[in-house]
Amino acid sequence: MTSDKKSRKTRKAKSKADRVFIFDTTLRDGEQSPGASMTLDEKLQVAELLDQMGVDIIEAGFPIASNGDFEAVSEIAKVAKNSVVAGLARAGSKDIDRAGEAVAHAKRPRIHTFISTSPVHMKYKLQMEPEAVLDAVSNSVQRARTYTDDVEWSAEDATRTDHDFLCRCCEAAIKAGATTINIPDTVGYSVPQEYFDLMTMLIEKVPGAGDVIFSTHCHNDLGLAVANSLAGVHAGARQIECTINGIGERAGNAALEEIVMAIDTRSDVLAYTTGIDKTMITRASKLVSGVTAFPVQYNKAIVGKNAFAHESGIHQDGMLKHNQTYEIMTPESIGLKESTLVMGKHSGRHAFREKLKEMGYELGENAFEDAFVRFKELADRKKHVFDEDIEALVDDEMAQADERIKVVALTVIAGTGGQQKATITLDVDGRHETREATGDGPVDAIFNAIKDIVPHEARLPLYQVHAVTEGTDAQAEVSVRLEEGGKMVTGRGADTDTMVASARAYISALNKLLVKRQKTAPGKMMAS
Ligand code: KIV
Ligand code: ZN
Repeated sequence: MTSDKKSRKTRKAKSKADRVFIFDTTLRDGEQSPGASMTLDEKLQVAELLDQMGVDIIEAGFPIASNGDFEAVSEIAKVAKNSVVAGLARAGSKDIDRAGEAVAHAKRPRIHTFISTSPVHMKYKLQMEPEAVLDAVSNSVQRARTYTDDVEWSAEDATRTDHDFLCRCCEAAIKAGATTINIPDTVGYSVPQEYFDLMTMLIEKVPGAGDVIFSTHCHNDLGLAVANSLAGVHAGARQIECTINGIGERAGNAALEEIVMAIDTRSDVLAYTTGIDKTMITRASKLVSGVTAFPVQYNKAIVGKNAFAHESGIHQDGMLKHNQTYEIMTPESIGLKESTLVMGKHSGRHAFREKLKEMGYELGENAFEDAFVRFKELADRKKHVFDEDIEALVDDEMAQADERIKVVALTVIAGTGGQQKATITLDVDGRHETREATGDGPVDAIFNAIKDIVPHEARLPLYQVHAVTEGTDAQAEVSVRLEEGGKMVTGRGADTDTMVASARAYISALNKLLVKRQKTAPGKMMAS
């Protein structure tokens, strides 16, 4: 028996109830979805949560893509306590050097380098001959190994690649020092049996396969990303690349929460384990949906609003008799709690602080005081204050803490007769400015008044409102996306008054745009 065969046997024998590594790419592939861009602060918030929830590898970004991406990867590298932090790089040396620099401060740095291997990608995208691609595989991995011992190599469009050529590429990557070999279904074209067969073939045939971890990276164009990923694991892969809420290019990636809960719920047939604290799934889903303003589909598996709701009489009757009649996992297992009435206007500072702690918030003294004032105002206006209300309020407060422009006052005239009018006062760098404007509807009037104070040419590709809780006194959470010169930002605002929430969300987006502008053209802060 060759040493390759021996190590393969050992790995397979061990793999019966094996640990599957969760590689989260929400901040890289997820952020590549049009409109899903996040600020540095938002990325740090997401990364800290992923680290806390037990994600094994966080792909923090694509450092060569922009200075912002580089900064995000290096800041995440500094704060991650447990997770490996990966930076993505194409096969070129500039990409790899930049990724190496970005992850340098991580406790556990990884460089993830990739190149396309399918005929269509090599011919049209890369315009390279297969032999040149093969050389690039070896060179890129060798260069990455000069920065870290943890190097992942991916064959982009692997599922449409000639099998013999794919084997040669994987072998070259392993020889050059790759420790993880990723087999992406880049265009979401594969079906489970086919992906299983491909992974099996690679693990059986590629020399040195037993010494590395094989990984899945499946896109969801045919809705098969999770099924394909699990098929890959059945074949011997021990790393799954996925994203929170399944966000990602086009139809997205395999959803982390679906992978983790499938493995957990069906341990009888999926004899694997992950290191994920599944009670943090709901928080992670809400956070990612909030910062990207990508709503979660109501009937989305695991984290959709209806995933644990039982509407029909027959189902409700069954559930009352025994919850296992219609529930294969409990809402508590993913950290979904009953909407609880938390506090009222008589609750004091101490109770509020305890509540925040219980909800996982750690605020500094000033931020705490501001949040407490907002909570008191809310409790005056709203009969029942729920966990979700506090969450929306604190997220809103945290997002706006250091902003240059703030909403001070707003009056809106709306209704069927006459034109809608808004009068708004903003605090711009400590100066108060007031303007009045009309518009096609109250929201348009508010945005026009804001534009008058802070002139800009940004487009508004998204304006979205959702109610935080039920009832007519519910807080509205508004998301506003602005686009200027190819840069996209999303702002959020919450208030029981939808118009105030709209103004806050618009101002929050505008503040982010100013930060972006300053980074690209320092000195040119306001257009006015
Ligand atoms: O889908 C893909 O092929 C990728 C690679 C960069 C891993 O995202
Ligand atoms: Zn991808």
